[in-house]
Amino acid sequence: MFQYNPTSFSQGRMDFTWEELTPEERRQAYADWEAGKGLIGGDPRLRPQSHLLPQWGVNQPFFRALALDDDRGNNGERLHAAIGSDQPLEIEIGFGRGDFLLDRALRHPDRLFIGYETKTKATRLMLRRIERANQLNPAATPPVRDNSALGRQARAGQAGAHDQMLTNLWLSDDDARFNLPRVIPDRRVHMLHILFPDPWWKAQHKVKRLFSPPFVDLIAAKIQPGGILHFKSDVEEYGELVRHLVESHGAFGPTDPELSALIGDYALTHREHWCQVHGKPVWAYYFARV
Ligand SMILES: C[S@@+](CC[C@H](N)C(=O)[O-])C[C@H]1O[C@@H](n2cnc3c(N)ncnc32)[C@H](O)[C@@H]1O
Repeated sequence: MFQYNPTSFSQGRMDFTWEELTPEERRQAYADWEAGKGLIGGDPRLRPQSHLLPQWGVNQPFFRALALDDDRGNNGERLHAAIGSDQPLEIEIGFGRGDFLLDRALRHPDRLFIGYETKTKATRLMLRRIERANQLNPAATPPVRDNSALGRQARAGQAGAHDQMLTNLWLSDDDARFNLPRVIPDRRVHMLHILFPDPWWKAQHKVKRLFSPPFVDLIAAKIQPGGILHFKSDVEEYGELVRHLVESHGAFGPTDPELSALIGDYALTHREHWCQVHGKPVWAYYFARV
């Protein structure tokens, strides 16, 4: 059991304390959440033309919560059909370069994948990677060290190895905290991967941090009983904060390394690869939804 020491990670301007919030701090965390404070890129409801997709996203495997009814394409219709199917759903929040997510979607064509990444540029790059994977182009080797499914396919260089169309992967550049409540039905998620989220060290940036009490309420509602929350960080303090928030919520069991077997083989994220190359430790947590 983790022994908490409220002062150990709260030095200088960092704020990683995980002692119980006072009723006032809790109320504030929920009020900030309700007000859309800290959403990356601001509150989408305040953006002009937020009911429209960017032109480059029309008829792509791309969506935004407020633009599902954009009738210049059929994004919303296709996404609803996919979510309404009985394919197990895996979600990654903050996919970055997308190495983990792309590999996983190729490995598990029977499952549905949704990736959130607030950096629009990274999301567009990932759309191009999906397109390349779908072009069945042997020259489309992804720029990753590569024991991944995509890398193996690309190295194989034969049409037979590329038969698979990547139709099971959708992306959004919405802040997941805004999108998930509006798009994903409760108990629909089989696995949620959150790998190396930004720690947002400074106290004044805490509101941007993914994990907070209302966020844990949200993911507890979306993950189905028996589903998994898979979390990794190279910041021990953030890992322990997440462990505290998740384990004290009541909807999840204690972290259990044996649950990693349910995830199976996977490609490292860019950040985890960097940690390996530089000999940096990584903290991994696997929580089952009870
Ligand atoms: C430190 S990077 C890690 C990227 C990748 N998971 C890896 O391990 O290489 C965290 C990523 O999460 C994205 N992100 C942060 N908050 C997010 C949110 N609320 N919703 C979606 N993406 C988010 C950031 O834009 C950033 O690309």
